[in-house]
Amino acid sequence: MTETSSHERDYLPAMGKHYLMPFYDLLHRVSRLGRVHGEMVALAELGTGHQVLDVGCGTGNLLRAAGRSGAGLTGVDPDLKLLARAERRLRRAGVKARLDRGYAQELPYPDASFDRVFSSLMLHHLDGPSKGEMLAEVRRVLKPGGVFVLADMAHHGHAREAIAAAGFTVEPTRTVELRSFGPVGIEVATVH
Ligand SMILES: C[S@@+](CC[C@H](N)C(=O)[O-])C[C@H]1O[C@@H](n2cnc3c(N)ncnc32)[C@H](O)[C@@H]1O
Repeated sequence: MTETSSHERDYLPAMGKHYLMPFYDLLHRVSRLGRVHGEMVALAELGTGHQVLDVGCGTGNLLRAAGRSGAGLTGVDPDLKLLARAERRLRRAGVKARLDRGYAQELPYPDASFDRVFSSLMLHHLDGPSKGEMLAEVRRVLKPGGVFVLADMAHHGHAREAIAAAGFTVEPTRTVELRSFGPVGIEVATVH
């Protein structure tokens, strides 16, 4: 794991409070969040040799779901405890991934370095200006023709409009109904 951020930022931990972190993976199972991750991986049409980034990767559930694709996997998250947990869980699952500490608003990667970028249930952690910064960063690190697949709680709304405003071509929103989370919207967006 590498420490890459140039300065500390405030961020909202998974589930809002650090002490709730151990319950997050339980919630993942109960709510069948895995269905959303599976759907996101399918929509991204990952191929061998693709470079893939998961922004706000948390405990690595989405990276695990992408584990059999043959793609090169990278996860970034500001929370060292979650990254340590992700590292353990991915190792146990036999999935190779690079994990970096960093922020969505300041991704520690060169321009045009990924074919696919994922972000699952993290956009609502950011305030309005940070959302714009994140989307500009995702656009920057994607290669031309690259695809961004985002999931977020549908009631937070406007993800599709914000992604389009950042210069992506966005497909119609897909909605998945999740126990204890409610509806989750999945956006598929291409950068040209
Ligand atoms: C609800 S969790 C979702 C985790 C994972 N994506 C999943 O679907 O299982 C939200 C994640 O966003 C991360 N996060 C919060 N602020 C962030 C930021 N500014 N940049 C990147 N990740 C952030 C949290 O640390 C946490 O891992």
